[in-house]
Amino acid sequence: MKYAGLTIGIPKEVLAGERRVAATPETAAQLVQQGAEVLVEAGAGLGAYISDDAYTTAGARICRDVREVFGRADIILKVKQPTFNHALGISEVELFREGQVLITFLHPAAPANHEMVQGLAQRGVIALTLDSIPRISRAQAMDALTSMSTVAGYKAVISAANRLPKFLPMMGTAIGMIQPAQVVVIGAGVAGLQAIATAKRLGAVVKAADVRPDANEQAKSLGARLIELPIPSELAVGEGGYARPLPEEWLVKEREALASAVAEADIVILSALVPGHEAPILVTQEMVERMRPGSVIVDISIDQGGNCAAARPGEVIEHHGVVIDGTQNIPGTVPVSATMLFAKNILNFTSHLVQDGRIDLNLADEIIASSLVTHNGQIVHQGTLEAMRVRREERT
Ligand code: NAI
Repeated sequence: MKYAGLTIGIPKEVLAGERRVAATPETAAQLVQQGAEVLVEAGAGLGAYISDDAYTTAGARICRDVREVFGRADIILKVKQPTFNHALGISEVELFREGQVLITFLHPAAPANHEMVQGLAQRGVIALTLDSIPRISRAQAMDALTSMSTVAGYKAVISAANRLPKFLPMMGTAIGMIQPAQVVVIGAGVAGLQAIATAKRLGAVVKAADVRPDANEQAKSLGARLIELPIPSELAVGEGGYARPLPEEWLVKEREALASAVAEADIVILSALVPGHEAPILVTQEMVERMRPGSVIVDISIDQGGNCAAARPGEVIEHHGVVIDGTQNIPGTVPVSATMLFAKNILNFTSHLVQDGRIDLNLADEIIASSLVTHNGQIVHQGTLEAMRVRREERT
């Protein structure tokens, strides 16, 4: 059996407001059926409405003390990076031991996480991050970043519609026809495309803009009207078809091209990201001030700095009558669906790593090599090492 002799630990997430959990009863049952012992911290699923009993029925064992989960597991599955555990008064990093495997979203290149990653390396933890799984077809079923972007795009539109003081769809009423709301989606990647689809389902008129021609094609096929951007694709699209950071003079041109659509919009969904870089500012304070009072902006990119200059991380503010929603960790606000997707992604990734009851760290495999962050006491993740080098240079 694939997992024979292996113990898998599922701790309760300790990051403030995080309601997801890394396994569902369904994925726990699959692990158990394949020979694993599964230890779940008591209450780990409650944020996603999964009871301890449901895990027990699936064949997992509930542990009252998280130290037992960390103490016995060969592999720890988590949603978010190790952080301070207020109940224990220590960082989760200190709960790990040498040779133990951690699979989670580590976001290891983010400066706020450098110390944590160093801590994992020092303890000899084999840490793998889900945010570095390559975007290749054989990794699709493991790609938690994509499934969480889907959740974020959907929820951003639902939240905006909820805050909007008017209807979204066109409505025929006894006093005449009410015009549909205008939604502008900037950045038509996974999250943006889901935002377009959701806004269309709700009956809004949707406009979209992206620097990648492929993304624009997909947006168009979902029924969005395109906002033409004057940016040559040679400049905007880099290796592997991903967006590249734009020089400031081109960002100025882009903002000019977006300005009138943004001014006319009832809802603006911002999801433009450049892998490995801070999110570009595409909506300035002045652009917000030209919008109608009562309009709503949701900045999905806020965890990477945000696309709107007026957005505040973790806050919903009002500027000149425009609501600017900077809610962080949007997937965590749809914990049931997000957990269902995440648990399957992480199970598929773990199954890729485990062969015949042992952890097979096959570095010739692109999926494992690119997601490995710490190994043999060292940080081995290129993006993290590069980010750490840049940080050292900035300090000297
Ligand atoms: P992302 O979250 O990094 O970026 C979101 C979008 O923002 C992208 O479409 C990007 O082009 C756009 N953007 C960046 N700078 C912009 C600017 N200045 N103005 C307007 N838009 C801007 O991207 P995501 O959604 O994670 O997808 C990245 C790529 O990976 C895409 O090519 C996607 O098709 C591909 N992909 C492939 C998968 C697979 O084959 N397994 C799975 C998921 C994505």
